[in-house]
Amino acid sequence: MADIATVGILGSGIMAAGLAEVAARAGHDVVVRSRTQSAASAMYATLEAGLTRQIAKGKLTDDERTAILARITPTDHLGRLADCDLVIESVVEDLEVKKALFAELEQIVKPAGILATNTSTLPVIELAMMTQRPDKVCGIHFFNPAPQMKLVEVVRPITASDDTITIALSFAERCGKDAIEVADRAGFVVNALLFPYLNNAVRMLEHGTATREAIDTAMQAGCNFPMGPFALLDLVGLDTSVAILDALYEEFRDPNYAAVPTLRRLVAAGRLGRKSGAGFFDYPT
Ligand SMILES: NC(=O)c1ccc[n+]([C@@H]2O[C@H](COP(=O)([O-])OP(=O)(O)OC[C@H]3O[C@@H](n4cnc5c(N)ncnc54)[C@H](O)[C@@H]3O)[C@@H](O)[C@H]2O)c1
Repeated sequence: MADIATVGILGSGIMAAGLAEVAARAGHDVVVRSRTQSAASAMYATLEAGLTRQIAKGKLTDDERTAILARITPTDHLGRLADCDLVIESVVEDLEVKKALFAELEQIVKPAGILATNTSTLPVIELAMMTQRPDKVCGIHFFNPAPQMKLVEVVRPITASDDTITIALSFAERCGKDAIEVADRAGFVVNALLFPYLNNAVRMLEHGTATREAIDTAMQAGCNFPMGPFALLDLVGLDTSVAILDALYEEFRDPNYAAVPTLRRLVAAGRLGRKSGAGFFDYPT
């Protein structure tokens, strides 16, 4: 069974930067591909700043930071992923965009390479079927923020080989994560259980039961959750949250998964959460 030396990451959003850091910390060489050089440079700068903050907190040494950064190569060139043993796609949560990307990856990445997706909800089988190697396609679903969150869901589409799943699980474990195997169902374990709760918190706000601050306080103080539902929605990203709910609704037709209007209105207004500077709350820079 092949070992993973070089990891490719696709995307330049919150998750792609987090995945690059996690994989590099675990000792892998990492190539991160963004669509433009400026996005690649911005992603690298965010990563650098995050590592520098960890030095200030005493969680990382200067030498460790230098070593992690030296393992990461940002690029805007898809061809740089050719020799990767594992590629994890982490672009926008849109099935058509991801399908097109998997068809391209099939042409570029060496035949032995495993192609994985960090999708939160979308059917991994549809991505696998865009390739000539559906046995080497799986989901490797990290959580946000990837460097801190312990869980990884390894998603097994019906086409994946046992070897692929074993390699994905051991990669996640080498990254210091608690890895679980899950079937290819929308939302896997965590989001299928979490998103009805988040969606219903917004519904409760719409009904005027309490303010967003009060609902957040209730769930933190009453359930010992580390953050309330509105702070969590802002962290995940409201556009990503709507995409997750839409995929869950599409698969299960459960009304609890039907995104409530306020979520769509905030997205339409460009209030995407922390990443855009405002969502349910404001995040001045
Ligand atoms: N945000 C979370 O909490 C979270 C957690 C786990 C997994 N995920 C998953 O990770 C993936 C990325 O989410 P994110 O939160 O980093 O999103 P994000 O909005 O921060 O970043 C999305 C990225 O996709 C790129 N992109 C947009 N349109 C594209 C296109 N047409 N072609 C190629 N790239 C394109 C953007 O440039 C950006 O780099 C999604 O599949 C999401 O479901 C997100």
